[in-house]
Amino acid sequence: MIFEQLQNEVTAILARYPVKRSALLPLLNLAQAREGYVSEPAMREIAKLLDLTPPQVFETVTFYTMFNLKPIGTFHLQICKSLMCALVGSDDLVAWIKNQLDIGPGQTTSDNMFTLSVVECLGSCGTGPMMQVNDDYYEQLTEEKLKRIFDDLRRDGTCSLKSGPFMYPESAAK
Ligand code: FES
Repeated sequence: MIFEQLQNEVTAILARYPVKRSALLPLLNLAQAREGYVSEPAMREIAKLLDLTPPQVFETVTFYTMFNLKPIGTFHLQICKSLMCALVGSDDLVAWIKNQLDIGPGQTTSDNMFTLSVVECLGSCGTGPMMQVNDDYYEQLTEEKLKRIFDDLRRDGTCSLKSGPFMYPESAAK
């Protein structure tokens, strides 16, 4: 019962939505924040809370790539494979990662540090190839940058090459 210790959060989320089922995505996010992935028991609990069937919850979880269906490593590497990033070499970077970390998409390194996923456009098409690692974006990637990112993450848990989710031009930010 993962929501037993999260009663306050669940109540606050449910109070925001006049239609119960609208709370589905926030509750899935809460479950994943708690466990690192959305487990089957969590899906059943959410279905019960929202008067949905477990398959209705499952189909939503499997629609969005940001939800994990099984435990993942400390760092979730999500490489964009959509057209703009593919044109500037995302496939080569996936191959390089496979070679360096010995994992393909959907796999986790044996030390549980990195899980690799390939995902659709992350909205940073002008700065490809790019990837999201947990909540951070890394843009204009090269093999050298990837090497530094992985070394830094292993050592410090963070890397100064990370950027925000979008790079707005100065003038647009004002
Ligand atoms: S195509 Fe890669 S971020 Fe949009």
